[in-house]
Amino acid sequence: MDETEDRVLFTIREHNLETGLRGYPIGYCTTSFVHPEKGLFYANRPVSEIHAWDPEAVIYLLYHGREGTADEVAAVKNNLVARSACSQALCQSLNQLPTQAHPMRLFAMALLMMGAHEGTEDYREDAWNVVAKVPEIAARVIALHAGWGDIFPSNPGMGYMKNFMQMIRYAPERDQNLYEALRLFNILHYDHGGGNLSTFVGKAVASGLEDLYGSLASAMCALAGPRHGRANQDCLEFVQKLLDDLGPDATEIELERCLRSKLAQRELIFGFGHAVLRVEDPRAAIFYRLAEEKYAQHPLVKMALLLRKVGPKVLSEMPKIADPYPNVDAISGIVLAAAGFPYAQYDTVLFGMARVVGIARQIVYERCEARGGKGTPICRPSYVFRELTP
Ligand code: MLT
Repeated sequence: MDETEDRVLFTIREHNLETGLRGYPIGYCTTSFVHPEKGLFYANRPVSEIHAWDPEAVIYLLYHGREGTADEVAAVKNNLVARSACSQALCQSLNQLPTQAHPMRLFAMALLMMGAHEGTEDYREDAWNVVAKVPEIAARVIALHAGWGDIFPSNPGMGYMKNFMQMIRYAPERDQNLYEALRLFNILHYDHGGGNLSTFVGKAVASGLEDLYGSLASAMCALAGPRHGRANQDCLEFVQKLLDDLGPDATEIELERCLRSKLAQRELIFGFGHAVLRVEDPRAAIFYRLAEEKYAQHPLVKMALLLRKVGPKVLSEMPKIADPYPNVDAISGIVLAAAGFPYAQYDTVLFGMARVVGIARQIVYERCEARGGKGTPICRPSYVFRELTP
């Protein structure tokens, strides 16, 4: 063991128990990290530097840990195109999904179905296959759940997100604003360090040597909860409710009064705070800029921008709140709605479709590359026994 390996990274005290493993370092992450003040980095690039990139270029960065040359990114595009076709058997199974459930349940089931029909038992192969096919899987889940009829046939040569957009019956060339919003949403949700709940769950399940699809399906069940991925749906609904209650011309004072009264009644203010961040989420800052540039007069955007001002002021007065700043969910769904995709309940599927990219790569690292290729052992933390008090 060398000196670095012997370094103390974290000390566990009694008060660290029952804190959701908050801050416990448990491994290495090669794709991204989250700095409390500087926010999200993909490999070593802050997301503010790469937000204009094509999805395939960002996928290259995450999968290889460095920016790809034009030829290397083109090779990723070709690889994804070549792998993108879903088998007929898979499509038939997807059409049988029960549509009365929340679409995230369908999405998790769809990933299991993909494993059942197309799994190769090879984490690397499965990772590329799932990245290539997940736009069609998500498009099918959304179209089926929404009752929009069959998707338009996949045309992967158009590009990763343009193809997704046209499968759900939008025209990327005609509706460039919506394309821009969907592309941004997609690339900004690929990854968020190693310890976010869905990524952690996916890797934990894979540590038992479950295949990639079962691991990703579990990860998506983790993402479906309102404290994690479904927060974007809840935020959009929250801002819509504020708009209904206060009207499109609400003032700062009216909003402040409303937030204070919600807090007094122990109601949640959605879209603020983060487990790691202690500043405004830089992903939110990117969405706010787009919202101000393109949709400043949209009523939801106006309310979200007002909330961006008033929320931190009110929340920072609460002694227990460590991070009173907006996170990505405060604005991501609102930008989508303003750009022409107003379906809050599908925003978490869009989050999941993106996060699958990062989780799959992290699973490949832990299963095939970590510890000189041996992989990490099965996750097995310990719990301290405590007698139940009668
Ligand atoms: C996020 O994208 O903000 C997350 O996955 C939540 C987290 O990092 O814990």
